Amino acid sequence: MSHYFQKKVFIVTGASSGIGRSIAVKLVQHGAHTLAMARSEDSLRELKKELGELLVSCVGDVTKPEDCRRVVAKALELRGRLDGLIHNAGISMRGLAADCSKEVYRKLMEVNFFSTVDLYHAAMDSLRSSRGHLVAVSSVMGRYSTQERSGYCASKHALQGYMDSIRLENLSQGVHTLVVSPGFVNTNIAHNALGPDGQPLGKRGAATEKGLDSLVVAEAILHAIKKRKRDFYPAGVKEKLGLFLSKWAPGLLDRLLLKVAVK
Ligand SMILES: NC(=O)c1ccc[n+]([C@@H]2O[C@H](COP(=O)([O-])OP(=O)(O)OC[C@H]3O[C@@H](n4cnc5c(N)ncnc54)[C@H](OP(=O)(O)O)[C@@H]3O)[C@@H](O)[C@H]2O)c1
Repeated sequence: MSHYFQKKVFIVTGASSGIGRSIAVKLVQHGAHTLAMARSEDSLRELKKELGELLVSCVGDVTKPEDCRRVVAKALELRGRLDGLIHNAGISMRGLAADCSKEVYRKLMEVNFFSTVDLYHAAMDSLRSSRGHLVAVSSVMGRYSTQERSGYCASKHALQGYMDSIRLENLSQGVHTLVVSPGFVNTNIAHNALGPDGQPLGKRGAATEKGLDSLVVAEAILHAIKKRKRDFYPAGVKEKLGLFLSKWAPGLLDRLLLKVAVK
């Protein structure tokens, strides 16, 4: 990675757990000033203890516009610039669309999509000044959909569409935009996923437990940032096959997806 991230200033949302936590660890290892945002104060305190002075913890909720503005203001106040915003915070869901309340959809859209609008508005000017990086952690579910994830897939498809527009609007401004679309990664995402009633499921998922290691994924994401890639898919063979079929043989993909129930 050479010295690319040294002394650069990055914000990572959803840094208390999973992929976001691993991105924060890797950023600090590569010498970046890292502002870690999440709601869990205790987890951020632990992270700060582990990573030391390069990490600044910012307790905040990405669904609150004032918290999104506050984390950007803190970066500017402490370091005078912002080189990258990695918006990774997200939640998932399980349940048939017929059973899920509208509140489940609203919550998923607030966390996975509308937060991106607020963060972008807060960070846009600073990222244009630094010709920096705007990164969204989406999912392969932002490219194709499976059963029992309707709200998650809808929110990640919305995120993909939004980021594709932003990329074009910023091409002449020098801001690099990257959409990261992971397949299964071993994190707490299934445990924290909402059920049809809007309550967290509270149990781990078999597919994510067999997924990629989050630190390996985080290092690969930093590499994609450094290379100013447009899209990046850290995913296993099956999810990559899904991406290929969604483009070239969507009917076949439907038939395959009907045979697998991903837990
Ligand atoms: N793991 C996978 O298999 C997988 C696959 C594809 C895509 N992804 C995506 O990767 C991203 C990270 O997920 P993960 O797998 O690392 O799951 P995770 O371990 O459950 O972590 C989710 C993170 O998001 C934060 N978060 C949730 N709601 C938030 C809110 N309202 N405000 C601020 N932070 C919030 C959580 O922190 P607090 O609860 O402390 O706020 C936590 O740090 C998500 O966008 C997810 O969709 C994951």
